[in-house]
Amino acid sequence: MTDQTDVIYQTEALIAQDIDAYLDQHQHKTMLRFITCGSVDDGKSTLIGRLLYDSKVIFEDQLAALESDSRKSGTQGEEIDFALLVDGLAAEREQGITIDVAYRFFNTEKRKFIVADCPGHEQYTRNMITGASTADLAVILIDARKGVLVQTRRHSYLCHLIGIRNIVLAVNKMDLVDYDPAIFDAIVKDYTEFARSIGIESFTAMPISGFKGDNITTASANTPWYTGPTLIEHLETVEVLASTDAEKPFRMPAQWVNRPNLDFRGFSGLIATGSVKPGDAIRVLPSGKTSTVTRVVTLDADLDQAVAGQSVTICLADEVDCSRGDVIALADNPPQAADQFEATLVWLNDEAMIPGRAYWLKLATQTVSATVQAPKYVVNVNDAGGSGSQLAAKTLDLNAIGVAELATDKPIVFEPYTQSRTLGGFVLVDKITNATVAAGMLNFSLRRAQNVHWQALDITREAHAASKNQKPGVLWFTGLSGSGKSTIANLVEKKLHALGKHTFLLDGDNVRHGLNKDLGFTEADRIENIRRVGEVARLMTDAGLIVLTAFISPFRAEREMVRGLLADGEFLEVFIDTPLEEAERRDVKGLYKKARSGQLKNFTGIDSPYEAPENAEIRVDTTRESPEAAAERIVDHLLGWTPTI
Ligand code: ADX
Repeated sequence: MTDQTDVIYQTEALIAQDIDAYLDQHQHKTMLRFITCGSVDDGKSTLIGRLLYDSKVIFEDQLAALESDSRKSGTQGEEIDFALLVDGLAAEREQGITIDVAYRFFNTEKRKFIVADCPGHEQYTRNMITGASTADLAVILIDARKGVLVQTRRHSYLCHLIGIRNIVLAVNKMDLVDYDPAIFDAIVKDYTEFARSIGIESFTAMPISGFKGDNITTASANTPWYTGPTLIEHLETVEVLASTDAEKPFRMPAQWVNRPNLDFRGFSGLIATGSVKPGDAIRVLPSGKTSTVTRVVTLDADLDQAVAGQSVTICLADEVDCSRGDVIALADNPPQAADQFEATLVWLNDEAMIPGRAYWLKLATQTVSATVQAPKYVVNVNDAGGSGSQLAAKTLDLNAIGVAELATDKPIVFEPYTQSRTLGGFVLVDKITNATVAAGMLNFSLRRAQNVHWQALDITREAHAASKNQKPGVLWFTGLSGSGKSTIANLVEKKLHALGKHTFLLDGDNVRHGLNKDLGFTEADRIENIRRVGEVARLMTDAGLIVLTAFISPFRAEREMVRGLLADGEFLEVFIDTPLEEAERRDVKGLYKKARSGQLKNFTGIDSPYEAPENAEIRVDTTRESPEAAAERIVDHLLGWTPTI
């Protein structure tokens, strides 16, 4: 590491220490969170360095080091190179060492500030979304010599999408264009056109020089034609999100139940919107149970009132059920719950979105399983015309922004993102790798979901099972084509039938003649195949049956999805583990030969993947065990006649 980086680390450490002091000393000040966006050489680092310098968060010793570093590196002659303050971290990010957003703290007489410094390249979209998601304001930096660039459009679009309503167009490096008002005006005109096309209603444009300090803290004599505020003045006075959030109806997603002893029971969380005080009538969602707030507790003391942005523990007058994932809201103005939505998604994973696949959806403190349909359209953000035009697409690739319908496996408490970032913003997480694959915003719930209600039936699944005198369940056979799934499943069914059990065998080839005859063997079709079979199998267990299924079902995620449809212990995964060479040697249907000769595409094991189970309840090695012996063992296991294998 270079000396520069050391300086930065020290500076960061001191700022970090200092922020605690600030928070103590300046409780009365409001906090503005903002994000700076710009292309690589737009002068972002210099501007942030200047803000830190002018607000005096750089201490004397760092200043001395900075001055000497500036002289050493020689990029700015005898003047201080503010970029050195922040570029050390930027360099690290470029090497992929840290993907986090660098947050910097400073404050002025009037306000505290947190600035998220996000790298500009498209591959850092993820960082930008992270930085922007909590920001009140975005400073979009433009190099006066270059004007509005593709990056400018992309960043502006993302900031607007994330819900930042305060945009500052900082036309930087004015010193390099002789403070020419015509250049400034032309850029503003250009940007206005673009901004309108994507729905940005207003923005504040200012001519600045981060390097020379023009219009940063003091009005510049070099731009007498500019009468607007300086950057700092604007940052100090613009309305912050917290104050608008505080005016909305009260909502607090419960993070956990705080129960240190039998005498105390409270619900802890961060207030998303509105305010709460003892005596308020509240409603817990999704149960809808109501109660009254008795105390608003914090670490220091009980509060008379708490507002959006504060973390508190709320005590209630009644013993209502409320756990992580529930939302506590104003009793007579609660948010809705729904399970089908239109959403805008920003795809953040190398692997493209797979329509129909189940991902974890995390919204506030709720986690549910969700599937996304093929996008209605994707937005062309880099559009030369800047109109954010809509394009057709079958999926979402890395960094793509698109609109799609999604369905969750149970209702979630939500609000449209435009009303609440907390209850409208979500991420999608891959169930197998645990990677965050997308960030999303709920636009609205689908009316068709609102008009379809669950009908309560008198003959329950328990009644169906009881009349058949058996415990329903699913034996899910998975394995390569020709592995022996159908053969063994067939033997198992015969044995169960002979024992008087009520069974049904759903077989891949058979189902593809009827219910699923519209499906082929692409990834998406196989996912849909398994989704439908899973739903049918579940209905059959509701009817009290023991269901056997024989499908390649090559993807772990879909097998897990079906497992999730059923009660604990009702789904037994049976892995028919026949090595590819063996299945191919047998080639019962002659399909491997066809696949090898190129006559059959997307064949599992050849040019389409098979993800073997990792924790199947039962594994059958057909090279060692006869179908008869395997069937015997599976029946024993199902009926609980032998310990788990
Ligand atoms: S799955 O992948 O969607 O679960 P499924 O079990 O329904 O597959 O169907 C597999 C059966 O379809 C195979 O046993 C084979 O007989 C036939 N088949 C036809 N084309 C293919 C293919 N490209 N890949 C695998 N199986 C195929």
